[in-house]
Amino acid sequence: MNFRLRFFVLLVAVAMLSATAVIAQSPVAQTPPMGWNSWNYFAGKVDDKGIRAAADQIVATGMKDAGYIYVNIDDTWEGERDASGVIHSNAKFPDMKALADYVHSKGLKIGIYSGPGTKTCAGFPASLGHEEQDAETYAEWGIDYLKYDLCSFRDDVMQKQDPDDKAAQMKLMIAAYEKMGKALQAASAKNGHPIVFSLCQYGWDSPWEWAPALGGNLWRTTGDIQARWQSIYDIASQQSGLEKYAGPGHWNDPDMLEVGNGKLSLAENRTHFSWWAMLAAPLLAGNDLPNMKPEVNAILTNRDVIAIDQDPLGKQGKHAYSDGEVEVWTRELQGGALAIAVINVGSDRYSTHPFHLDLARIGLGSQQTGKDLWTGKTINLTNNEPIELPSHDILLVRLDHPQS
Ligand code: GAL
Repeated sequence: MNFRLRFFVLLVAVAMLSATAVIAQSPVAQTPPMGWNSWNYFAGKVDDKGIRAAADQIVATGMKDAGYIYVNIDDTWEGERDASGVIHSNAKFPDMKALADYVHSKGLKIGIYSGPGTKTCAGFPASLGHEEQDAETYAEWGIDYLKYDLCSFRDDVMQKQDPDDKAAQMKLMIAAYEKMGKALQAASAKNGHPIVFSLCQYGWDSPWEWAPALGGNLWRTTGDIQARWQSIYDIASQQSGLEKYAGPGHWNDPDMLEVGNGKLSLAENRTHFSWWAMLAAPLLAGNDLPNMKPEVNAILTNRDVIAIDQDPLGKQGKHAYSDGEVEVWTRELQGGALAIAVINVGSDRYSTHPFHLDLARIGLGSQQTGKDLWTGKTINLTNNEPIELPSHDILLVRLDHPQS
């Protein structure tokens, strides 16, 4: 081979190698992220030991096998910045890199939390003026996911700079998220592994319209969830109409799961989980994993329901119609399949007063055969047949072959 030919062969080899490197770095969040987050149950009590225990439990309870991958540290991990501005974790987290290594050793990924202001919501140091530096620190620790929460940016910057101009305030907010989006992309490129970018600004100024363009993989659509039926119901209702904004790599986030928390009944836990699956929502459990009851574990690991959430088509479900206190939602799935959720959202309609499902109203013929995803059994649906549902319970059906 002459020198020119050898040089050409070398160039082709280098090009092929770098193409493989790009392909190897597959894009994140092609289906809604699944995992666990410390806030809903532990809030400020989260520490290194608790995160390790959560990672252990995700494996031991079968949640990892069911698809839960991210172990996310929420607020209160942050310590002080050193003289060069580098953020350090506080005494609850003695060695973030070692913790990330531990979580990774379980085949899981690790997430962290900050915000664009000077302080997080719990009053710990946030990223204002240190965005690039923080993104690099996270990447060096091996962090795979960042939840970025507006919090003090409202007073620190928006209110201070433009007290009387809401539109200008929103521009500042969007610019702050854009800044961190860019910083994460740069840090990811440098360190060779992607970081999921989760926007938490409570749905202000329609983030679904602008967050995907600045690298957002998910964005909160509402205020904080609570472990009460009313909160779950209100949040779910506010998702109607947002379905067109979700898709692979970018998802509406109706907030983390409360399954297993508070005084939610089993029916409410089932409905909450199913509804989030219909909404193609991120499934981030937020319960006390070491003390999880078997029936809660069974809900969180229902593979059929998870398959609805994780459907590769990535089409968020929509509200089809309501009849009094009963709501019908549908979700188109890959291969022409369809999920139907019939939810008794009220507290006054008793199971002895059945609901009659109108198949024509959801574009279907009068006879359907599918799978009831909570009994695991085959179900035949006939037009207008009576369906008895206790208060806050759900019928969730998958039709692999809907008949017109
Ligand atoms: C809230 C956020 C919660 C949690 C909390 C931590 O703003 O919505 O999910 O992260 O801050 O302080």
